[in-house]
Amino acid sequence: MAGMITFTMIKPDAVRNGHTGKILDQIISNGFQIRAMKYVHLSEAKAGEFYAVHRERPFFKDLVEFMTSGPIVAAVLEKDNAVADFRTLIGATNPAEAAEGTIRNLYAKSIDANAIHGSDSDENAAIEASFFFSAFERF
Ligand code: CMP
Repeated sequence: MAGMITFTMIKPDAVRNGHTGKILDQIISNGFQIRAMKYVHLSEAKAGEFYAVHRERPFFKDLVEFMTSGPIVAAVLEKDNAVADFRTLIGATNPAEAAEGTIRNLYAKSIDANAIHGSDSDENAAIEASFFFSAFERF
């Protein structure tokens, strides 16, 4: 059975450009409930830890630099089929390929500054949620 939660971060570009409210509104109006949320500025160490799975990728250094360039909004979202439905709502990683009306189509500029993160599996949703929120350690 598909899981009920996913994890998201509204990234520094979207926060900096004043899109937080519109993005949260789009998330809520698409049936997601916010179960936890925080506004934080990631340290280099924390960003590197969060994206450790990408440590060997050529874009890792730029990714950490970008994710520490300003505050983010991290949240745990609940809905039936949360991971897949949220990935549909945010669109492709590369905004040039994101479907019309998706969050990345509307607010992202590049594959680096792509406005928002969404977990790619139930397992990673649980890991990512517990990275930011202790109450979600058991999901
Ligand atoms: P995100 O879903 O947060 O997960 C990893 C991030 O790395 C991804 O979004 C992109 O913003 C960023 N990234 C930069 N370059 C690439 C790339 N070539 N392929 C995948 N992700 C990339």
